[in-house]
Amino acid sequence: MTLALELSELATAVAREAGELARRRRSEGVRLAATKSTLADIVTDADREVEALIRDRLREARSDDGFLGEETGAEPGVSGITWVVDPIDGTVNYAYGIPAYNVSIAAVRGEPDPESWEALAAAVDAPALGETFTAARGHGAWSGGSRLQVTQETPAGALLGTGFGYDPATHAGDLAAVSRVMPIARDLRRMGAAALDLASVAAGRLDGYFERGLRPWDHAAGALLVEEAGGVVSRIDLDSPRPMLIAGGRDVHARLVAILDEKQ
Ligand code: IPD
Repeated sequence: MTLALELSELATAVAREAGELARRRRSEGVRLAATKSTLADIVTDADREVEALIRDRLREARSDDGFLGEETGAEPGVSGITWVVDPIDGTVNYAYGIPAYNVSIAAVRGEPDPESWEALAAAVDAPALGETFTAARGHGAWSGGSRLQVTQETPAGALLGTGFGYDPATHAGDLAAVSRVMPIARDLRRMGAAALDLASVAAGRLDGYFERGLRPWDHAAGALLVEEAGGVVSRIDLDSPRPMLIAGGRDVHARLVAILDEKQ
């Protein structure tokens, strides 16, 4: 078995166990633990408990690997592999009881920096939707036994997804980007969980997706799903505090970059 497949199997098993814990805690009621960057940027007790479970399981299985998690930060390893983890992506959905939340786990090789790492394995588990999306570099992206494939043709315009940061000061700029892309869109979705947006692109449920200000754990796993499903993912405005990630099939990706990248 290749290293990528081995890591993908581990990511999938841990994401499923963690997803089940998140789902159970949700059914018991959600307690807000803290706010982070802004009042809208929340962390629940479950985020912390789920990240601790993931960290423990990965450490038991592969003690030499590094870890980069949304709630507990970075711990370097010695193997060259780092696990990039969002314990609950879509925390606001989770807090409101909207089922579009997920556990997102990626294994990357190299520096734990999205500009240089090579993602090897990914698992995105959405327990309240009953879906798990997985990928291993060179082995495709999968869900429920089916191989995922991005859309190629968008004759009626592209169904696009996006998201907005938690800081109200950035909303006007994000909405301006939305109005610029609407001429190529058939419609727009804002689901509230970046990893699920990317999984949706991989599964052909969205034709494209763009969002500013994502953190590494928001997109590490989802981006590999898109690439392994035949799509393209890139980041622009890397020198800005809120770089933009753009994903889609080859054609939609290129059209989004042409509209959104002012340097082009
Ligand atoms: C958030 C979600 C949301 C996106 C935000 C992310 P979190 O992740 O993915 O869809 O718009 O930018 O921060 O905070 O729920 O893990």
